[in-house]
Amino acid sequence: MSPNKPYIYTAEDLYEKLTGKPDFILLDVRNEKEFHNFAVEGPGFIPYINIPYYDFIEDIEASVAKIPAGQKIRVVCSKENSAKFVSEQLLANGFTDVGYLKDGIVSWGNMLTPHKLTPTKSPYKLYQIIRPGKASCSYMLIVGKEAAVFDPSANIQFYQDFAKKQGATIVKTFETHRQADYIAGSILLHKTIGAEVMVMTPDFAGADFPYTPLENGQTLALTGGPEIKVIHTPGHTLGSTSYFIDGKFLLTGDTIFIQSAGRPDLGGKSEEWSRILYLTLMVTLRDIDDNVLILPGHYTSWNEANADLVFCAPLGELKKTNIAFHFVHEGKFAEFIQENLRPQPEVYAEIRRINAGWLNVELEEQNIMDLGKNECGASNYGKVGVSAESARHKD
Ligand SMILES: [Fe+2]
Repeated sequence: MSPNKPYIYTAEDLYEKLTGKPDFILLDVRNEKEFHNFAVEGPGFIPYINIPYYDFIEDIEASVAKIPAGQKIRVVCSKENSAKFVSEQLLANGFTDVGYLKDGIVSWGNMLTPHKLTPTKSPYKLYQIIRPGKASCSYMLIVGKEAAVFDPSANIQFYQDFAKKQGATIVKTFETHRQADYIAGSILLHKTIGAEVMVMTPDFAGADFPYTPLENGQTLALTGGPEIKVIHTPGHTLGSTSYFIDGKFLLTGDTIFIQSAGRPDLGGKSEEWSRILYLTLMVTLRDIDDNVLILPGHYTSWNEANADLVFCAPLGELKKTNIAFHFVHEGKFAEFIQENLRPQPEVYAEIRRINAGWLNVELEEQNIMDLGKNECGASNYGKVGVSAESARHKD
């Protein structure tokens, strides 16, 4: 690195650093609102400060003085240019190791990182593909030359490249439900490479793209691959579906997470859907073997990841620790949902329409709509911080 030129780092580089012990200060130069709405979050803690770009324009000396001298600085902004400008200013003002994020916060928002779930000798490969910018998880199953994705995000190039590296092509794309919080990649995968879209009908009735409707209890497979069983798990949405792979892995979408469940109020029928979700949790999931590994569609915090930085847990463990399993009856569960109700972001209505194929927007607009952490958990950011233990004893 030349002493006078800033270093350019990618979202992947940033994630890799965040999985270790970062040795830099992350300087976010977006405005305060953007910074508070959507910040970089990763498995490791970092010193992370916000000094808006305009402060540097107005008073460079005072702004530089706010940053501890002699530190490594990594700058992030919305698109790239302001971070580049600030980096150059820092280098001109005594800092020696400064870098800026290539393509800005959008690249962080769209970045995907795969983690293998199956052992080396397994005849198929299953990956959890984490999207740290959305706090969401998609999945890829690879059997020989065929691959299937589950809840892909709109960054379909990543999924295509990832499958290709392993000699496979994506032939099927499954949705656990019609997503509200991010633009799903299934329609794009269908349009781009002809992948067959697999969904249950309730969430997709009247959708404006071709899909194969799935039935509760139906089984299917990639050629020569493990059984994929369709299990209707309504509540978060009426069409919410879980996919049971090889009787070992249960991809639950937004039905159940590691510490909470999917919020059942997004459809505007909180009370009715709370009961439906309660029954899904207490009947459908309770009937499934405790050793089955639950693979959720979202997480709230990196604290939920295991030592390998994967979001998964045996169902038996979740029955003990997840708050959603700890309400003595449906009334208490509905009460908990009510106490945690919060408005859903306005953009969710439009994202739902995009995910039904009813609305098309330009890529740049999509990237803006798609930015930010999910709001799908029943207790993610609610006013009540309730542990499983306290919920059990709540009267
Ligand atoms: Fe959702």
